[in-house]
Amino acid sequence: MEQRVLGRTGRNVSVIGLGTWQLGADWGDVSVEDAKAVLDAAVEAGVTFFDTADVYGDGRSEQVIGEYLRGRPDADVFVATKMGRRASLDPANYTLANFRAWTDRSRANLGVDTLDLVQLHCPPTPVYSSDEVFDALDTLVAEKRIAAYGVSVETCDEALTAIARPGTASVQIILNPFRLKPLERVLPAAAEAGVGIIARVPLASGLLSGRYTKDTVFAANDHRTFNRHGEAFDQGETFSGVDFATGVEAAAEFAELAPEGATPAQTALRWIVQQPGVTSVIPGARSPEQARANAAAAALAPLPGATLEAVRDLYDRRIRAQVHDRW
Ligand SMILES: NC(=O)c1ccc[n+]([C@@H]2O[C@H](COP(=O)([O-])OP(=O)(O)OC[C@H]3O[C@@H](n4cnc5c(N)ncnc54)[C@H](OP(=O)(O)O)[C@@H]3O)[C@@H](O)[C@H]2O)c1
Repeated sequence: MEQRVLGRTGRNVSVIGLGTWQLGADWGDVSVEDAKAVLDAAVEAGVTFFDTADVYGDGRSEQVIGEYLRGRPDADVFVATKMGRRASLDPANYTLANFRAWTDRSRANLGVDTLDLVQLHCPPTPVYSSDEVFDALDTLVAEKRIAAYGVSVETCDEALTAIARPGTASVQIILNPFRLKPLERVLPAAAEAGVGIIARVPLASGLLSGRYTKDTVFAANDHRTFNRHGEAFDQGETFSGVDFATGVEAAAEFAELAPEGATPAQTALRWIVQQPGVTSVIPGARSPEQARANAAAAALAPLPGATLEAVRDLYDRRIRAQVHDRW
């Protein structure tokens, strides 16, 4: 699979990675056995980049990855984790002492001395302008607890502030055919600064697969049930902030843009990897079949200009009013 340099980490990662929130919690039940089968399917398909977080299943996702990779020393997977969401979202919690404790826990969960990349996990906005926070992250690098740090952001303004920090290696942001705003300023700024872009929620939580109807019901312990209106965390993380009924209709229209031989989900992933400035896209998968299909999107031909224009038109007509000014 095509590899790209992940910003200031200087390390290569596959253009299609794997999001592993599903392997922790919040997406219905996924057994440890199934979680390992998903990791294995991704690696066998050429994926060399996993995204996880200390909070996914309160460490379960990290532990499953650590266990799996100990059995696959040949795999050479770059693991990006995140910290900050096991504590309350109070800027006062973003201290060097807490960073040391949080990264020590992730190092133990993943079974490594040095974390490849730790991302602040959608921190409160004041954290972005705190020199002490970024000095503390530099200290973690100097102590070799982490090799590099990045930020997972909610808004484009937060992304631009993070990119302006000289030590930021990467920015993780929502980017998909239902979330086009990062194309305007964030991707050009990241490319200019040499900061990697990790595109998350690429399938709008599965909507862009075109498999759901207005009557689709998700499990009670799936955020697509309990966070539909932002009840538990930022609304933008569930279905990319698009109202479900609107999203189902727009996804049906998007599905018609899929080229022959590609599914709508693969078309969405292909669209993302060809946006200038994107390093890697990290679809979540709940089954080995999904992981394999997602990895295969890297081999599709670039989408033609007419399809790119059709995506823009679909966004402007159906989606823009709901999301563009919010994130
Ligand atoms: N704040 C943050 O930093 C943050 C927030 C959100 C996500 N993330 C990261 O980004 C990753 C990706 O985002 P996400 O998992 O939220 O959303 P996503 O990748 O947009 O959607 C994942 C869902 O799409 C469906 N799907 C996946 N592959 C498919 C395929 N080949 N065909 C059909 N359907 C498919 C599955 O739905 P079903 O379950 O219905 O099968 C899967 O659970 C996460 O796993 C996590 O690592 C980070």
